[in-house]
Amino acid sequence: MTTVVSILNQKGGSGKSTLATNLARAYELEGYGAQILDGDSQRTVTEWAKLANEGMPTVTPTTAPTIKEDVDTATSSVVFVDGAPAHDTLNVRAMKLSDLVLIPVRASGPDIWSSEDLLDSIQTRREETGGTPRAAFVVCQQIARTNLASEIGDVLGAYALPTLDARTNHRVAYAEALSSGTTVLDMPGAKKAEDEIRRIAEQSLELLRRTDE
Ligand SMILES: Nc1ncnc2c1ncn2[C@@H]1O[C@H](COP(=O)(O)OP(=O)(O)OP(=O)(O)O)[C@@H](O)[C@H]1O
Ligand SMILES: [Mg+2]
Repeated sequence: MTTVVSILNQKGGSGKSTLATNLARAYELEGYGAQILDGDSQRTVTEWAKLANEGMPTVTPTTAPTIKEDVDTATSSVVFVDGAPAHDTLNVRAMKLSDLVLIPVRASGPDIWSSEDLLDSIQTRREETGGTPRAAFVVCQQIARTNLASEIGDVLGAYALPTLDARTNHRVAYAEALSSGTTVLDMPGAKKAEDEIRRIAEQSLELLRRTDE
């Protein structure tokens, strides 16, 4: 059985593709076969894959009509879906096929507000299925020692979904990795970013293990 992890937030630039590429790689380094379905018509991750060296997770484009079949025919143990920055059928279908939905949010109101439709549909789906998918916020691109970074935890705490303790800080290594077909796990000198991604991987795996209970 393939495990599906979708990375969704209709807000553009919240960090979906960055999380998808780095997390898929982190899972591979943990021994899970991982691939990415690129559900964004901008095809950021598909372009990333064209630049990628050997060893990076495979990327295949997907669309709303094909996502179910794309997931069903996946051969890796974990499939990551990089969502579209729009209120899109693809995102809803991905959510329904998911074991886990990760919602990247920058430490700002608009990223959180724009995820509210998604939160409602996750809630409805969980009621229908008895608790699937699991879902969590991931704070991304935070700027350390700012009020926004320290207050976001409280803001997100008002929602029904948990927030991972692990966050990404704003670091140039993430932008460099996405622009050059690699990940922060493969870049010399990106140890802090690597540690952030490894912690997010660990905490997301922990949430997935809980779906097995
Ligand atoms: N932690 C970070 N630190 C610095 N830059 C980051 C970080 N995360 C993402 N970025 C940069 O921010 C921009 C947006 O990130 P990304 O493309 O991952 O977001 P997205 O949600 O996939 O965007 P879209 O909605 O357009 O698909 C990119 O240029 C990326 O390199
Ligand atoms: Mg993207």
